[in-house]
Amino acid sequence: MRVLVTGACGFVMSVFIRCFLQDHEEARVLALDVGEPDEAWSGHLADVAGRVDFVRCDVRDRARLATLFARHRPETVVHGATVTLVPEWEREDPVRFLDVNVMGTAAVLDAARRAGSVGRVVHVSSAAVYGAGNSGRTEPQDEDTPLEPDEMYGVSKVTAELVARRFAALYGMSVPIVRCTKVFGPMERPTSARTLMSLPYHLARALVAGTPLAVTPRTLRAAGDWISAVDVAAALGLLCTRPDVGSAAFNLAGGAAVPVPRLAELFGVELAADPAADPEWAVVDADPALRSGKDGTYSVLRAARRLGWRPRDLPRQVGEYREWALAHWTPEDPVPLGSPGAAT
Ligand SMILES: NC(=O)c1ccc[n+]([C@@H]2O[C@H](COP(=O)([O-])OP(=O)(O)OC[C@H]3O[C@@H](n4cnc5c(N)ncnc54)[C@H](O)[C@@H]3O)[C@@H](O)[C@H]2O)c1
Repeated sequence: MRVLVTGACGFVMSVFIRCFLQDHEEARVLALDVGEPDEAWSGHLADVAGRVDFVRCDVRDRARLATLFARHRPETVVHGATVTLVPEWEREDPVRFLDVNVMGTAAVLDAARRAGSVGRVVHVSSAAVYGAGNSGRTEPQDEDTPLEPDEMYGVSKVTAELVARRFAALYGMSVPIVRCTKVFGPMERPTSARTLMSLPYHLARALVAGTPLAVTPRTLRAAGDWISAVDVAAALGLLCTRPDVGSAAFNLAGGAAVPVPRLAELFGVELAADPAADPEWAVVDADPALRSGKDGTYSVLRAARRLGWRPRDLPRQVGEYREWALAHWTPEDPVPLGSPGAAT
């Protein structure tokens, strides 16, 4: 199988590429990104490198996409290229989110339908489509929860989903959509494309440094629905290979709210609440009031029923990430902290 992956140098897609090629020995990946691979990426993919071709390309470049699709004739596309959420970027250049996330999605789908070789485009979306949600709601949200994005990233992800659905209807394409919640795991790192690091990333850094993790006091009362990129990759792999998945949307999440202290316990890291920390500037801050919409918990029943996918239990996901961090980082590494107030 020939799979074209967009956003291939990023966190989630680089994990997907490795997992997919390890599971499918006959597969090849055309890895497309607007940025260049870094050392971490090349190292991560070293044992499957013979089956990965990297091409530098902007997903908005329709002429170049046409050439690449004609030359490589992919059978499946996994579209993960995105401008991710950084609040300063939204204020500085809101149009960029729409430009890349919406028009880039349209360009990839159009190249795919014209190529004649593509049977399916797996579109990577986000729980950001649910927006702030209904704060009274505590039960896990299914995929029919209203889409009410409350920032430009979420607006662009909802719009891209609508574009994907319309291409599916217009051309009879299979365009399944995944909505990932808070993803953590191997290969999460600050890059020019992504500066906000997750709370599990900071926990893994503290683990390797052998230090407590300083957080704002309210973080101790917060909770989240986290999922490992390895589990996301498994679901994406099923969506690439299963027949008859159609064009439905699937939540990919852990399915439960996990209190931050429990998460820290799984990492084996002590949390040090700093009463003087200002939530606006603290490196690790999570707001306990955020429990719904994009910050809520998600039902993963649809993925279980239709794909046979379930997240592994959280201790296993965290245990695997712990091992990876301890094997790849050293206490002497400079700790790239990401942006203040960043943890999600
Ligand atoms: N990380 C999370 O917690 C999370 C949560 C929900 C959804 N997602 C989704 O997963 C996907 C990957 O996210 P990520 O966290 O790995 O982000 P990332 O920033 O690490 O990866 C995105 C990649 O897209 C590339 N890209 C950006 N603009 C491009 C363009 N114009 N042309 C080609 N490539 C371009 C970037 O260079 C980057 O390598 C996205 O669709 C995102 O919405 C991620």
